[in-house]
Amino acid sequence: MSKEDKIIILDFGSQYTQLIARRVREVGVFSVILPSDVSIEKIQSFNPNGIILSGGPETVTESGTPKINKGLFDTDIPLLGICYGMQTMAQELGGTVIQSDKREFGHATISRINNSILFDEVKFKNDTLDVWMSHGDKVSIIPSDFNPIAESKNCPIAAFAHTDKDWFGLQFHPEVTHTDEGIKIIENFVYKICNCKKNWDITNIIDGMKSYVASTVKDEKVILGLSGGVDSSVVAMLLHQCIKDNLTCIFVDNGLLRLNEVEEVLDTFSKVGINVHLSQSSDIFLSRLKDVKDPEQKRIIIGNTFIEVFEQEAKKIDNVNWLAQGTIYPDVIESSASETGNASVIKSHHNVGGLPEKMNLNLLEPLRDLFKDEVRNIGKDLGVPIKILGRHPFPGPGLAIRIMGEVTKERLDVLRIADKIFIDELIHEGLYDQLSQAFVVYLPVKSVGVVGDGRRYEDVLALRAVKTVDFMTATWADLPYNFIGKVSNRIVNEISSVSRVVYDCTGKPPATIEWE
Ligand code: XMP
Repeated sequence: MSKEDKIIILDFGSQYTQLIARRVREVGVFSVILPSDVSIEKIQSFNPNGIILSGGPETVTESGTPKINKGLFDTDIPLLGICYGMQTMAQELGGTVIQSDKREFGHATISRINNSILFDEVKFKNDTLDVWMSHGDKVSIIPSDFNPIAESKNCPIAAFAHTDKDWFGLQFHPEVTHTDEGIKIIENFVYKICNCKKNWDITNIIDGMKSYVASTVKDEKVILGLSGGVDSSVVAMLLHQCIKDNLTCIFVDNGLLRLNEVEEVLDTFSKVGINVHLSQSSDIFLSRLKDVKDPEQKRIIIGNTFIEVFEQEAKKIDNVNWLAQGTIYPDVIESSASETGNASVIKSHHNVGGLPEKMNLNLLEPLRDLFKDEVRNIGKDLGVPIKILGRHPFPGPGLAIRIMGEVTKERLDVLRIADKIFIDELIHEGLYDQLSQAFVVYLPVKSVGVVGDGRRYEDVLALRAVKTVDFMTATWADLPYNFIGKVSNRIVNEISSVSRVVYDCTGKPPATIEWE
């Protein structure tokens, strides 16, 4: 794909960093996220047209917090600091940043006080604009050679611009939809200031990926671990269209999948003519999980067993040179370490590590530059069924991490039926697509119930439904009470070994989305 023109986003830890990168791509230019402490040499190796410095949770008023690399001021790369990014620019250029006595969080109105190319064609109303603020600190003394270009009630320097260099700062967040005309401001930076050419749309991306696959894989054979999730399914479709029968998908039934999942995946892919090799391996997974209660232990066992099973299955296919994986850009960002160790790495990504080295195969990751929404759009274009593209994510360790305590066949069967009831009802009520993830959790406790004249002392299940943009933070979904009641009723009526259903109303943080 043509990535000649690009914008680098330096990540100071904002929850919106990925959103900034997505917005740049939405306006049609490739973007890359790098840790805030990356070296100038590394930045220059990307040859970026411009750099956006993200917001961040810390305060530049304390020592030891991340700062802009001053070397950037010696380059001629245009800079746009957003929130923390603006503050660190201001401070390093001799301005002053103070802690505000009033924290501004949420809607605010800014007034334009000077013209700037950043505000070209931005539709102000009487020179004011509704924006989204989220800050405790503010620039109180502007560095020399800068002009303020906007102010707000609590923030006299709500945006600034250098008098002759392409350096800009915004105290508000143009990347969030609550900021009116935020996209226009980003467009102005990308096109009018950084002079980028449009290079990022679905057709370009697909053409680029296809020629990349054709030129690297040539007529060699590729295997792909298919999970039935969005990412591996899109890779399967893409590769199928590029290399046809040289692709073999291996689908491992680990016994930890949802009801009818194996049949559905096989059916879906056989309809489009993709070779899927099924490995029926539930027994080995379940026997190794016997008596195991610790979540991390479960993950390790499942991960290792997967590698072992996959390797054995792959040996059955002759002359394979490549292993394809559905790694996507957030996986790459999450696992990329900061250069100085100052920028925090939240978690390492979930794709199956260990396989390529172990199997002596070349790794093919055609989606590694793409965000999830881009993968979905590409999937749509490639003809991946909507049923797969719209599916909530499902973790690699499957239902094993949704059964608290030991994983047994009986518990799995209970959970599978309850999960199907919950998901079917969500789909039926039109709620499924409004949620990011929904599932049922099995609790290893018994609870007393009464059915008819009889006493029950049976299992407890929890319903979990969350909304999130990036799965790093999430809010619990406020599903209608009568809906939760209906699902609970169906579960206790249709599964005799369940006596009680509870609803999880915990966000992330402090909880995680999965229970284990
Ligand atoms: P947590 O529970 O960390 O989940 O808030 C965030 C997202 O990651 C998924 N998840 C996993 N996916 N292997 C995976 O492939 C795992 O071990 C794993 N743990 C959590 C989770 O379903 C949610 O989408």
